[in-house]
Amino acid sequence: MKLVKNLRLGKLVTDLPNRGLPVYGWFPLKEAFSRNLVVMLLKNLWMGRGDRVLDPFCGKGTTLLACRELGVEGVGCEVHPLFLFFCRVGLRDYDVPSLRREAGELLSSPFRPPETPPSPFLRRFFPRGALQDLLFFRERILEREEGVREFLLAALALAASESSWAVRDGGVLKVRERRVPPLREALARRIGWMCDDLEKLERRGAGVSVVEGDAREVELEEESFDAVITSPPYPGKLEYVSAYRLEQEILGLPSPPPQRLLGVRVKEGEPVFEREAYLEDLFLVVEKLYAACREGAEVSLVVSDGCFPEEGGIFEVCSPLCERAEEVGFRVRRATIVNERFCTTPSRKKLGIMREYLLQWRKE
Ligand SMILES: C[S@@+](CC[C@H](N)C(=O)[O-])C[C@H]1O[C@@H](n2cnc3c(N)ncnc32)[C@H](O)[C@@H]1O
Repeated sequence: MKLVKNLRLGKLVTDLPNRGLPVYGWFPLKEAFSRNLVVMLLKNLWMGRGDRVLDPFCGKGTTLLACRELGVEGVGCEVHPLFLFFCRVGLRDYDVPSLRREAGELLSSPFRPPETPPSPFLRRFFPRGALQDLLFFRERILEREEGVREFLLAALALAASESSWAVRDGGVLKVRERRVPPLREALARRIGWMCDDLEKLERRGAGVSVVEGDAREVELEEESFDAVITSPPYPGKLEYVSAYRLEQEILGLPSPPPQRLLGVRVKEGEPVFEREAYLEDLFLVVEKLYAACREGAEVSLVVSDGCFPEEGGIFEVCSPLCERAEEVGFRVRRATIVNERFCTTPSRKKLGIMREYLLQWRKE
């Protein structure tokens, strides 16, 4: 951390209550990045109508949804087809009463054997009844109009994951046979929650958009953003390569080419995470952000150290990233610890503390 001046380390407190707020984008992710954090940042930066905010790793769209809630223009970029799908579903405008009506019809339609056979991949993850229900509902949903169709498909993918034997273990999807909720029930619950969320979401009419693209290369208008609020993929995480295959298969979405994911390279046909590549990739993004920001723009990034037990333990990201930011021309204003966890060996020997940070830079 020594080269980074003016660092202020401390626990982050968001002063916003959690209860009763909409769940953004619906797809469950574990990072510290949340609606409350983004809303707090947007408010602290006095972002409002006429301001433009960028999220180059927008995932399911937390930043964009917060922008829309506060009436700020938001632009997102995402490389993963599944997250792009969830982001677009989350950002769409719906007529909620007609969604509820369509959902009611779907859920009360009597079962009939599906016409399409299940793929061998799907067959491994479901009890027989749930698999039949899944294919039946998917066929019924695909008959619906665009918009409602994607909304119901998103709900189906999430409900099916809950009613499956799949468990995500790091980057790997495994089968663990166990009692799971019936799909029809899980789907009804899921659609109910999603509709409730839509009713809670405020829309102040600001334009928010998302583009499919790699943050290292995406074309961005120069000097056009007033703020960047983002969270790049965490180091060592290969889960974006294949851990979401179940949802992708249900939605008919491909996996992203691994080399498009930050820090991932393909060696002898296999995707591998490389620490040097990760920093190289992040540095490219930092340069892009500098070019895209207006003078005075603020960049807020939630990043995490990595844990590599076989390669010496903690892989520090905060310091090299902030050093690069200063070389490029940002002023590093603050680094706040938002989370701490132990980095351990598989036998649970502690190797050090891994930190998640909120980094804040300004283009001066
Ligand atoms: C930590 S997640 C961001 C989560 C996001 N804040 C949200 O609200 O869902 C990082 C995201 O970066 C995406 N990603 C990985 N490599 C990328 C790249 N080269 N360009 C753009 N997005 C990328 C991943 O697919 C993932 O959705």
